This record gives sequence, structure tokens and C-alpha cells, in this order.
Amino acid sequence: MRLCSDRYTDEEARKKLSHKLELRRYEHSLGVAYTACSLFMAHGHDTPEELSRAYTAGLLHDCAKCLTDEERDKYIRRYGVELSRTEKENPYLIHAKLGAVLAKEKYGVTDPEILSSIRWHTTGCADMTFLEAVIFSADFIEPNRKPLIILPEVRTLIYTDLDRAVCRILEQTIVHLNNKGMAIEEHTLEACDFYKKKIMRRRKQD
Ligand SMILES: [Fe+2]
Ligand SMILES: [Fe+2]
Repeated sequence: MRLCSDRYTDEEARKKLSHKLELRRYEHSLGVAYTACSLFMAHGHDTPEELSRAYTAGLLHDCAKCLTDEERDKYIRRYGVELSRTEKENPYLIHAKLGAVLAKEKYGVTDPEILSSIRWHTTGCADMTFLEAVIFSADFIEPNRKPLIILPEVRTLIYTDLDRAVCRILEQTIVHLNNKGMAIEEHTLEACDFYKKKIMRRRKQD
């Protein structure tokens, strides 16, 4: 695959990434990259350029996931990354925002939509672009994911109706976080509300 990077070939980037991530996380990243490509193809976006963008965003979406606390804090300071209260209280969320920064600074990715797809892959946000929605949902359905009750339904739905699949994932994420007593990012709530309304509007038009 061609990587959308000013600095690295795909092979070089994969080698670098494999040294930065645990094996399980690296395999998940490859899973997201190829799942994103398959979603692009299924939805009629199958030019080499489009597939490269899907692949690059998928491959690098978790590039900041396996940092030590010290490394993470160093990069936050170095690149002036501003954190929300929820991110400060739930540091696992930081890897999305920081991942977008590192994809640019460490992997030479300049395409703003690839970077925003990495930025929003964990929480989602309202009115995502096609690439953003694909990376958000590919992260949830890729083949290495442990089986969840809604996975079969979402894995089928996603190839015909991306909005409804995104909505199901957001609903499930909110239920899961509530059950675990964990904080929910406002972007996730806004996204869920947005997609529910969008689907309702679509139903009225049909
Ligand atoms: Fe992630
Ligand atoms: Fe991920």
C-alpha cells in the first residue's frame, strides 16, 4: 500500500510502528487499516488515492497508544496539546488527540482529514466525514476485536448503512461506559444525538 506520508514508505512506517506498539496493538492497527479499505471499497471509494488515505489513517490511528506516562507527558508539553477535563481524568482518551499530533510530527502525515480521523477515532464527533466515520467504526469492528453482542449486527449493517452502524456503535459505547461507571466525553454524546436525529430525518424523507 502507498502511505500518505512525506517521510516514510509504508514498509518503513510499519517497521517504526511495530517498534512503538505492543504486538497485539500493532495487529489491531493493521486490522483497522484493512477494514477501513474494505469499507471504502464497499461504499464506492476505491481509487488508489482514496484507499491510501483509509489505509494510512487506520494504520496510524493508535500510534500514541503504547507510550509510557513520561513519554506521553513529554509530548503533551512539547506540542502544546490542550486536554479537556475528561481527558485529564481518563488518560486513555489522550492517545487519540496525541495520535493525530504524532502522526504528523513523527510519521510525516499532513493530510488534515487523516489527522482528524485519528483525532476522533475514540470518541467520535457529530457530523463526521466519511473517512472519520470509517476509522471510528473500523476501530470497533476489525477482525481482532473480542466478540461483543452487537458485533455481528454492526458488521453487516456497516457495509450498507454507515450512519446507522455509527449510531449503534455510539449507543453501545455509552451503555458500556455507563455500566462501568466511566465518564463519557461530551463529543460522544453529541455524536450519538446527531446520528439519531440524522437517521430520524432520513426515515421521514423515505
Ligand atoms: Fe484507539
Ligand atoms: Fe484502535
